[in-house]
Amino acid sequence: MPMGRLLITGASGYLGQRVAYFAQQTTIWNKIYSQSWRNPALAGEHVACDLANQAQLQALLDRIQPNAIIHTAAVTPAMGAAMTNEALWAVNVQATATLAAWAAQHEARFVHVSSDAVWGGRDTAYTESDVPAPIHPYGASKAAGEALVEALNPAAAIARTSLLYGQNPLDPNTTMALAMVRGERDGALFTDEMRCPVFVEDVAQALLELAQQPRLYGIFHLVGPQILSRFELGQALLAWNGIDSTGLPAGNTSASGLRRPSRVVVDNRATQSQLSTILRSIDDVTRR
Ligand SMILES: NC(=O)c1ccc[n+]([C@@H]2O[C@H](COP(=O)([O-])OP(=O)(O)OC[C@H]3O[C@@H](n4cnc5c(N)ncnc54)[C@H](OP(=O)(O)O)[C@@H]3O)[C@@H](O)[C@H]2O)c1
Repeated sequence: MPMGRLLITGASGYLGQRVAYFAQQTTIWNKIYSQSWRNPALAGEHVACDLANQAQLQALLDRIQPNAIIHTAAVTPAMGAAMTNEALWAVNVQATATLAAWAAQHEARFVHVSSDAVWGGRDTAYTESDVPAPIHPYGASKAAGEALVEALNPAAAIARTSLLYGQNPLDPNTTMALAMVRGERDGALFTDEMRCPVFVEDVAQALLELAQQPRLYGIFHLVGPQILSRFELGQALLAWNGIDSTGLPAGNTSASGLRRPSRVVVDNRATQSQLSTILRSIDDVTRR
């Protein structure tokens, strides 16, 4: 039976695009609203809204009355200098709180996308019950967003993810590695910054599964089961796209002087045991 109206925020973003695309492939939703801000959303009925404008967001929610919301929109490091503290606060914290509260008041399903950036890095893996301890403003804004969702909407699902990759379109990590091997941009990929990268399509499918399963609430880890450094990830992604990675510059976080989480290994086993969507390793995905 169709589940009503689905709102996908950030539907022009890297993840949101795939969520909207897959949502449209099924007959589960009567209507799909794809929200974005400056760029057009490619699937679903496009609705433009600046999430930093609380009145605009409230009016949008009251007008379309979604039965479920998948909140992928965020101010992210991909925005460069536009990622100000004000923008982080307005979108990642305040708009997230508005969406979570609206969903709770209207008994709409709320699925919030968070990040492994809520942690500062340590030797052991992080589980769903580990308390966020961010070390930079972006991570702090995602941690604050999570805390507000938990407080305002305990029935919500909070889905933490990690470095997203894919081919359709090409992910920002591959694009950056490609520019580096071609000598078109400076920099290096760190060999001591470990993550659990995940295929964007697996995350999109898992978010849609969570949206359909109100019995699943609390924290979920939508990450891959394989641990790679940013450098190893760059090599794997270039190889997947048939590009020689010889000359890919390697670097070291500790030598860079930057304050960045080094080893953020996220355990997905408890989440995986509750989902039918498989969060595949990069070896499994790129072997296809
Ligand atoms: N990409 C990763 O590797 C990664 C890793 C961990 C977690 N995540 C999380 O995954 C989610 C999706 O990330 P992504 O990489 O797909 O993001 P992205 O490509 O940077 O897209 C961000 C989206 O948010 C929208 N947005 C930003 N500011 C807005 C505003 N003021 N009003 C309305 N919309 C606004 C953008 O709209 P416009 O395009 O219209 O500007 C865009 O659709 C985020 O919650 C992020 O924290 C991502």
